[in-house]
Amino acid sequence: MYLTDKNILVFDELDSTNNYARQMVAEKQVKDAVVLAHYQQKGKGQQGNFWESEKGKNLTFSLVSTTDYLHATKQFYISKVVSVALVNWMSTEAEDVRIKWPNDIYVGKKKVAGILIENTIKGQKLDTSIIGIGLNLNQKKFYSDAPNPVSLKQLSGKDYAIELVLQQLLQSIDEQLNLLRGFKFTEIDDQYLEHLYLYKKWSWYKKDGKTFEARIVGIGEFGQLQLETKQSEILEFMFKEVEFVI
Ligand code: BTN
Repeated sequence: MYLTDKNILVFDELDSTNNYARQMVAEKQVKDAVVLAHYQQKGKGQQGNFWESEKGKNLTFSLVSTTDYLHATKQFYISKVVSVALVNWMSTEAEDVRIKWPNDIYVGKKKVAGILIENTIKGQKLDTSIIGIGLNLNQKKFYSDAPNPVSLKQLSGKDYAIELVLQQLLQSIDEQLNLLRGFKFTEIDDQYLEHLYLYKKWSWYKKDGKTFEARIVGIGEFGQLQLETKQSEILEFMFKEVEFVI
């Protein structure tokens, strides 16, 4: 492990960078830092899933960011800005990069990156956010039962220098976090919708085993997906309450 001038901790191996970062926060060792691991034994995905990432092939890191300027009810904005930051960087490498609600990064119908944010709250405000990002860079084959993973190498044929991508991505995230620090909510909303996969497009969704046709018409204050059905009904869903049929 070594520590660079930018407070970036790089490990060959950890259980999970989010877990390590959380421990650092709990022990009050840091306010703002980055933890990168070239291999995670227990990389965490959404909903307790395992995040597959072959040793030394991809970018898996957690950014610890002070978010005490933000009311706790606004926490979905962190997902929004981080998703947009990833799209902005990735669009230099691939076409058709989109945010699949709430915060998966897709190229076409395949997932290139995932985000797992863990917040601590103090009173009514957020305190610290651990922003965990898994970006598939150089892996050529995926083995887990995750539905549709892909790496940038599989898309562009290029090899990526992991720590260089980290630097570029951190810059992109910082730009977006600055919008949030400036409370530019409307600008952030617009950017998120601009990159949102299937926004306003009729498509198929699944709820309790039943499929239905609908289109995304908006995102609620707390990040809910707002769908309009063919019967002109507006339905709202929290994460995992509805599935995309892709
Ligand atoms: C998802 O399921 O889409 C979220 C995946 C998040 C994975 C990253 S890898 C770095 C960080 N540490 C973890 O244990 N998980 C996140």
